[in-house]
Amino acid sequence: MLKKILGTILCATMAFVAFTGCAGSGKKKVGVSMPTKDLQRWNQDGDYMKQKFEAAGFEVDLQYAGNKADTQLSQVENMINSGCKVLVIAAIESSSLGTALDKAAAKKIPVIAYDRLLMDNENVSYYATFDNYKVGQIQGNFVKEKLDLDNAAGPFNIEFTAGDPGDNNAGFFFNGAYDVLKPYIDSGKLVVVSGQKDFASVATPEWSTATAQSRAENIIGSNYADKNIDAWLCSNDSTAQGVVNALDARYNSEGRGGQWPVVTGQDCDIVSVKNMIAGKQTMSVFKDTRTLAERTVTMVNQILNNQTVETNNTYNNNKKEVPSYLCDPVFADKDSIQKILIDSGYYKASDLGM
Ligand code: GAL
Repeated sequence: MLKKILGTILCATMAFVAFTGCAGSGKKKVGVSMPTKDLQRWNQDGDYMKQKFEAAGFEVDLQYAGNKADTQLSQVENMINSGCKVLVIAAIESSSLGTALDKAAAKKIPVIAYDRLLMDNENVSYYATFDNYKVGQIQGNFVKEKLDLDNAAGPFNIEFTAGDPGDNNAGFFFNGAYDVLKPYIDSGKLVVVSGQKDFASVATPEWSTATAQSRAENIIGSNYADKNIDAWLCSNDSTAQGVVNALDARYNSEGRGGQWPVVTGQDCDIVSVKNMIAGKQTMSVFKDTRTLAERTVTMVNQILNNQTVETNNTYNNNKKEVPSYLCDPVFADKDSIQKILIDSGYYKASDLGM
């Protein structure tokens, strides 16, 4: 009997909470929609945003969509229905949330595209990101300098691994790098032995490590029996990790010798930083997710307080020029780990096995 009464009270309380949202607390609720928990960075983005929004007096509804675009759509719709006053979205597929964005607009809920631009819809209020083209340029310039392309005789062999074709950032990263390297490919100083050099051929759905690895294994198996690989341009760390696994088989287990190639990345994920320490990934690009989270909280406060929202750029999403704030990506290699990742408090030395 007592159990039944307690059960009824609990149900009634839960129903009341669901109905009132956070009206009781007087706090405004922000919906934060992240793509996946599978990649380290999104966990950090979500955690920092939750911390910083809560510290600024908001309630936070943080959801991860398991890299499924339809899950993300229903999560965002739930956020709208449950009383969120503002939405922060890192899209899985840049064009797949249109119906939710329209619903948000009908309820006058501002939407911030977080890290990845929401495409093909006019109901995107602001975009907070890093300079994605510049990320690619940093990677391309690194390969150019490491191989000394302006002075060395060459030719050098290179392969490319890019990101998810549904992620609007992936093309920016690839183009930023390719634009730096194209003149050397055109002149024959850099040779893409597999012949795979357009974005569609080198893209990696879901930025999957396993997919990047099996593609790299195929490329190595079919093209590099008697050739060395001088560089592998990877757009981010999760794909670089797959390429490094494939290179490990080629260079270490099979013991065929040759110089380990220059391998690029992005994000400074712990696994990749450890690979940098081990000499298997040559560089990464540090995008301090604390900075992006802080910028987003600032934007939300400015929007809700009717202040001028600070931006430093605009991005066209095929429907409008979205006012944007671009944070600065930072080059990282083995020698800068201590300064930029540990001294700044982003990681503890013990996280990196140091
Ligand atoms: C991109 C993001 C990168 C990387 C990648 C895979 O959109 O800008 O930092 O994490 O997704 O999740």
